[in-house]
Amino acid sequence: MKRIGMLTSGGDCQALNAAMRGVVKTLLNGPEEVEIYGFLDGYKGLIYGKFQMLTGKDFSGILTKGGTILGTSRTPFKTIQDPDEKGLNKVDAMKQNYYKLQLDCLVILGGNGTHKTANLLRQEGLNIITLPKTIDNDLWGTDMTFGFQSAVDIATDAIDYIHTTAASHGRVFIVEVMGHKVGWLTLNAGMAGGADIILIPEIPYDIDKVVDKIEERDKRGSRFTIIAVAEGAISKEDAKLSKKDYKKKMEKNPHPSVSYEVAAAIQKKTGREVRVTVPGHMQRGGSPCPYDRVFASRLGAEAGKLILDGQFGFMVGYKNREVVRVPLEDVAGKLKAISPDATIVQEARLLGISFGN
Ligand code: F6P
Repeated sequence: MKRIGMLTSGGDCQALNAAMRGVVKTLLNGPEEVEIYGFLDGYKGLIYGKFQMLTGKDFSGILTKGGTILGTSRTPFKTIQDPDEKGLNKVDAMKQNYYKLQLDCLVILGGNGTHKTANLLRQEGLNIITLPKTIDNDLWGTDMTFGFQSAVDIATDAIDYIHTTAASHGRVFIVEVMGHKVGWLTLNAGMAGGADIILIPEIPYDIDKVVDKIEERDKRGSRFTIIAVAEGAISKEDAKLSKKDYKKKMEKNPHPSVSYEVAAAIQKKTGREVRVTVPGHMQRGGSPCPYDRVFASRLGAEAGKLILDGQFGFMVGYKNREVVRVPLEDVAGKLKAISPDATIVQEARLLGISFGN
């Protein structure tokens, strides 16, 4: 008999359910009986002992379902070692619940913050396997995270819709894309949607270069310009500021997000009408695209295999088109950002896309 705990933590994304289904199906097809304990709302469920016993039936019919059947929440790593408001030691509580239920392994699905806590639990002696989820694709140790391709599809759709109205009106349009501190989603959706300018955090922008590109397009007779802006995009000037000074500056910033700041600057410099569209959390919603269904199922199956083999302390990742096991200590705390010299950036430039630098 194997007893497996499972939880999803951090912002949700598409294919979380597909990944869990992959793990459970693999275990149920294995030689031993399996008990599954699903902790509710992320690490909170593990801390406060809120769980449900699940059977194979609970994982049936969820391959195409968005969100997470377990619920999720954000439990920041930076306060995980602080006692809660009632003085409870959260790490001890998680360990106690793990041991009370006599778990053989805990499967944790999450992104960057989640992996830091997962690695801490591993260091504390728990058997941990993780799966890389996030629309941001910013997890170190894997070429791809599930949720990413589905979000690329949605952000691309948004750019596609904007394209037709931008063309009719001859406007400059900004589509703000999620992605936290990195530009993977914006770069991919921007290229897929034929954006003319793509602004990502890894390549700080110069607003004059952005304006140059718009004017160059004007001169060529293109009546409109589409700009894909990552929510974490930053100007050259701001990138030079210390973290503290940047934070101070942002406190006084009248704009709700960077896209509005870019729009205001373009409007001021060119007199052109600029509109901003923010698809926001739509990018994390809905059912996973077929790619993510297959991808998450593959990673889930490998996680199941690891458990059957008694191999713990790994994230199941994807490298050079192969599913791989990556030691958790190598993943935790590292961000996978786009190199400004990456071939995809060079290719985008060859296509005439401006990065505003
Ligand atoms: O990490 C996924 C993500 O959607 C980021 O792209 C975004 O910055 C963040 O989560 C939004 O977080 P929340 O759902 O807490 O507003």
